[in-house]
Amino acid sequence: VVLGIDLGTSAVKVSAVDRTGSIIAQQSFDYPLSQPKPGWSEQNPEDWVNGVTVAIVRLILNDGLKPADIKGISYSGQMHGLVLLDANKQVLRPAILWNDTRTTAQTKEIAAKMGAQFIEVTRNRALEGFTLPKILWVKENEPTIFEQATTFVTPKDYVRYRMTGKLAMEISDASGTVAMDVAAGTWSKEIQTAFDLPASFFPEIIGGAEFAGHISQSYALFSGLEIDTQVFGGAADNAAGAIGSAILKPNMVWSSIGTSGVVLKYEDSASVDYKGQIHFFNHAIPGKFYSMGVTLAAGHSLNWFKSTFAAEEDFTSLVASAGKSTIGANGLLFTPYIVGERTPYADSAIRGSWIGIDSMHKRHDFVRSVVEGIVFSFKDIFEIYQRAGANFDTVIASGGGAKSPLWLQIQADIFDKKVVVLENEQGPGMGAAILAAVGLGWFDSVAAAAERFASFGETYEPVPENVAKYQQIYAIYRKVYPATAEVS
Ligand code: XUL
Repeated sequence: VVLGIDLGTSAVKVSAVDRTGSIIAQQSFDYPLSQPKPGWSEQNPEDWVNGVTVAIVRLILNDGLKPADIKGISYSGQMHGLVLLDANKQVLRPAILWNDTRTTAQTKEIAAKMGAQFIEVTRNRALEGFTLPKILWVKENEPTIFEQATTFVTPKDYVRYRMTGKLAMEISDASGTVAMDVAAGTWSKEIQTAFDLPASFFPEIIGGAEFAGHISQSYALFSGLEIDTQVFGGAADNAAGAIGSAILKPNMVWSSIGTSGVVLKYEDSASVDYKGQIHFFNHAIPGKFYSMGVTLAAGHSLNWFKSTFAAEEDFTSLVASAGKSTIGANGLLFTPYIVGERTPYADSAIRGSWIGIDSMHKRHDFVRSVVEGIVFSFKDIFEIYQRAGANFDTVIASGGGAKSPLWLQIQADIFDKKVVVLENEQGPGMGAAILAAVGLGWFDSVAAAAERFASFGETYEPVPENVAKYQQIYAIYRKVYPATAEVS
């Protein structure tokens, strides 16, 4: 078996996966998130290591997994977090996480210092969540800590270091630091020079299925694992999720409606230039890439609606009730900006709205407007793809939006694309397991393993009449952001 370690923001989940792609055992462990000041979000890296170890020990003791049977281990990690290390590789301060927003001033400094060159090199805008602004924040605000820092890593790369004793940064997470020359696949000299960071500060970059080391003697004693278990690079959670869902062909786009929503496209090369309008990262497979846009409140919008107005209903019947309404929710339009919006506006101040409330509207119209509004916000990301000339014909749907036939049809009609349901969804931990399986040589390529492990279900085709109606409504949806930005 292989272990896929999914190091999330609230918990770690470790899955033991056999050669057929079946999960034979799974254990998870929660850890706290600390918010010492408004907008701050930190975790203690030691909590990750302890959580991973408890989960592994439970797999061995409770589920009867034999350490000698565990051939390989790999990771999926929460992205962008900063773990600063001193010369002895000791952690210098709590990790600053992806959802920490203290770095607005640093994002402005980066833009002012490097201008358009920053996006040309890193393929991304410098957003608060990314790692480079966090490094600059510590440099400016905690100089005595920064003086001791000799290197840094992202969260799952730190855990791998603790398990193997070898420090390296896997390429998909390395690109999420926005300190890489993404097309070249190396750390960016321009960024090192502009922000006066020595090349030695940046660890070696490795591939997702690349061998990173064996389990160290001390970690073997601590966890019960064997020292000949091989450990591989892993992937950033979005890259790992895409691998686990077999989104590995240029004609495929992934539509994932979780608390936040992600539209992600596999990119065979770095030739399409989105000019920073969506994120563009190196894939865990060196030489390959992925692009993605984020809707901050996707499932979160529906959760909010349910808890505020329909706490007694279950999700399935609530979403199904939208079927009693019509296309366009009888003239009611919702923008899901209830916690701000990332793509395409990168606007943390914008708030949501309902436009066109009529005295004849019923609750099911409101439900439908929320469901449609979430899909319209995904459509904004599709429009960026369209404008950049990216070609794709299939949308693979997962998460909450893939559990309702009505919501799937709404996606097909609003996107005007074929929508295919991802079956048996296993999340990013499966992507991590696939990388370990490929690293061990069980499969020739990540794509071959993913196709073997993932399965697809029903297809929803766009209905031309519905497509035409939604195009008209989407044109109105586009006008709501600029009109409400002023009053939000
Ligand atoms: C991606 C992002 C989040 C984190 C969550 O840019 O910030 O999806 O990866 O772990």
